[in-house]
This record gives sequence, structure tokens and C-alpha cells, in this order.
Amino acid sequence: MKKNSVKVVTGAQWGDEGKGKVTHFMSKGADAVARFAGGCNAGHTIIFGGKTYKLHHLPSGIFKEECVNILGNGMVIDPLILNDELTSIRDGGFNSFNLQISDRAHIIMPYHRFIDSLKEQSKTGVKLGTTGRGIGPVYMDKAARTGIRASDLKNKELLSEKIKYHLKEKAHLLEGSNISIENILEKLTPAAEKIIPLITDDSVTLYELFQQEKNILLEGAQGALLDIDFGTYPFVTSSTSISGGASPGTGLPPWSIGTVVGIVKAYTTRVGTGPFPTELKDKTGEFLLTKGAEFGTTTGRPRRCGWLDLPLLKFSARINGLTSIALTKLDILTGLQTVKIAVDYKLDGKLVKNFPSDTAELERCQPVYHDFDGWEEDLSKIKEKQSLPNQAKKYIEFIEEYLKVPVSLISVGGDHDETIITDKKEILF
Ligand code: IMP
Repeated sequence: MKKNSVKVVTGAQWGDEGKGKVTHFMSKGADAVARFAGGCNAGHTIIFGGKTYKLHHLPSGIFKEECVNILGNGMVIDPLILNDELTSIRDGGFNSFNLQISDRAHIIMPYHRFIDSLKEQSKTGVKLGTTGRGIGPVYMDKAARTGIRASDLKNKELLSEKIKYHLKEKAHLLEGSNISIENILEKLTPAAEKIIPLITDDSVTLYELFQQEKNILLEGAQGALLDIDFGTYPFVTSSTSISGGASPGTGLPPWSIGTVVGIVKAYTTRVGTGPFPTELKDKTGEFLLTKGAEFGTTTGRPRRCGWLDLPLLKFSARINGLTSIALTKLDILTGLQTVKIAVDYKLDGKLVKNFPSDTAELERCQPVYHDFDGWEEDLSKIKEKQSLPNQAKKYIEFIEEYLKVPVSLISVGGDHDETIITDKKEILF
């Protein structure tokens, strides 16, 4: 079995690194693309055939007829939203996609969404700024071993029983909502009927493809710093979003993975609450927000913006085992007189050796910056790294040297063509 036939691509910061474009690029030569974590909290914008698609569940290979697209067992799926996505791509003229949904994936119900928003509105407790898609509550049911899985959709009676159990168990939280077994089933039944034919044991499909040495792309969602274990807990999502989650989230063996590409935005953004050492609450922050169109695909919320943070990325590169970096949105930095990169943190006047696991400590960290001269040139038409302005090249080389991880792709614009590949072996199959 060819080891390098399985690649993982994952966000290396707090999500929204530009995964849509990079995964679409990487999926070109893929025989299968599988998502392994999260659900419709993710939002990928893909521009294809002159149309813009906002995908929440669907993997990036969905527009390629011959590619098997998989929603892996590590995912949580909202059948109503998934159906809307399928309708939108069918309306765009794509009817013959190949999609499989893991029978082990968990199903998001209206009560999960309700409880998610209830927690966010609560006057007590930590406000996480979730996407409100029911992600935390559905993973809670999974961990409690009471969850409803995709395979349960096939058995109407059992499904009804399970939903009734949850409505009873959660009755104290659902007071004041209009959620009932009748109105859940009224919407769920037609949606479920459409997706039931797609439900299968995807771990078998993937293993067979792996045995046949087919090219498999495992597509992450969110980002390393939102990982349930290694992210800035509790300001995280509820799944394993680091590269290691690709194995339990699909059933492929850990040793099958040959390449791990981390997507790094040339600056940093985050949505929702939580520590953000290099955040800019000034004109430069506004510049990045506006020029980078930093608004959430799923919620439309403005993203918090700041300088690139290398202590954070060093941690992310270690935890993800990055073999290379896809650097996105470099063009957004054009026009800044000075560009800064955080190279250290100081806590109570002392340099911090390792990225803090304690969120309160991270809140108090002060970044130490390295300054670079900016550049004015338009990068979007540049096809080779050598042709980039010297200052931009220095910026990239500084990142590579600090992290000891090479950059394999540089994105210099929103369009598919506005991309420089510096290591084909990493990015293309
Ligand atoms: P949840 O995943 O909706 O529970 O949200 C938990 C945290 O993760 C919040 O801060 C969200 O803003 C953040 N988050 C979840 N999904 C994404 C994403 O795809 N991009 C960026 N942030 C995300």
C-alpha cells in the first residue's frame, strides 16, 4: 500500500484559513475526499464554473463526478442543512456527484440547536460565541452514548423512540420552545428520505480505496486552536480538529497518512470569544478585516484580526505534525508599510518557552514582534515564488526558518489561478 496516497489538509490557526480554496486545489487529483470532524459549523466558499457555493458539510471533491466524497464518522450532520446544500449544487447543474454518509456519523436535531443558543444567551457560564449550529450539544450526546446516528434514520420506529427519549431528558431545557416529536419528524422525515440512500459504512469504502493505492484527501474543518484537547479550551469546538483526528474520524489507520498540509493565513483571525495575543483593535485590524473580507461564511460575523503569530504556529505545527504549509491571503498584506510577526510571548516580563495550555495565562501573554518592511506590488498575477517582491519572500522564508516547515503553496488572490505551488509533491497527487 502506497503510504503517500493519503494526505490530510487542516487549518493550523483558529479556522477560516482559506480551506475552501486549498482543499479544492488539492482535491483535483483525488479519487476520494473525506471530511473527518465537525459539521455545519464549517463554511467553505468555493467558486466554481462562475458560481459561488457555500458548503457546510460537503467535501471539496463534490464537483468532480469521478471522486468519492465522504462525510466521515467523526462528523455531525444536520440533514436539513445538508439537503439545502445538495439542492444548491443540483441547481448549479451538478447532479451526478458521488456522496457517501457514514452510518456512524451523529445527527444534529433541532433540540441541539436550541440548547446551543440557550447556553450562549445564558447570563451565567462562559460565552463561547459558538456558531449556534448545535455542535456542542450533539457531541455531548455522542459522548453520553445516547446520540442518534445516521444509521438510526433508517429505522423509523427506533428513531421516534430515541427522539422521545431526548425530548424527555432535555424537557427542562426545552421549556418555552415549540419543539415536539411531531414537528421534528415533519421536517426530518422528508430530509432523511433523501439522504438514507447515501448512508453506508464509509470506513470500508475508504479502506478498499487505500488498498487499491487510490489518492485520498482527508479534509479537516475549523482549526488546530479550536481542537477540543489542544485548542484554547474552553473557547474551542467539540471535536478533534487537528490532523490526528483524521484516523478516528474516518477509520483509516494512522500509519496510512503520508502528508499533513497545514493551512496558514498570512495573518491571524478568530471568530467567537477567547484569547488572541496578536489581535489588533486599531486601523491595521480594520484594514485586514475589510481588505481580507473577514466575515464568517456560516454566521456572517466579523472576524477578529491580528498579526501572524509564530509561537502559536510552532505549537500547531508540532501538534499537527505538519509536513508543509499552504500560506493563504498573502496578497491582503500588500499596501501595509510595516508587517509584523510575533516571534515570542512575554508573561510577567519573562519569555514564555512553550505555548501555554492555560487559557488565562495566554490571555496575559504579550507578543514580541519582528518588523518587516511591507510591499506595494500587486501579487495576484505572480506565478513563481522567485517573482514575489523581496520583502514578501523574506516574510515567507522567515516563517519557514522559524517553524522548520516548508511552504508548499502560496495563495496570492481569491481565484483558483492566483496560486503559486512551490512543492507539487505535497499539494498534488
Ligand atoms: P461551535 O463549533 O459552533 O461549537 O463553536 C465553538 C467555537 O469555534 C466558536 O468560537 C466558533 O466561532 C468557532 N468555530 C466553529 N467552527 C468554526 C469555523 O469553521 N471557522 C472558525 N471558527 C469556528
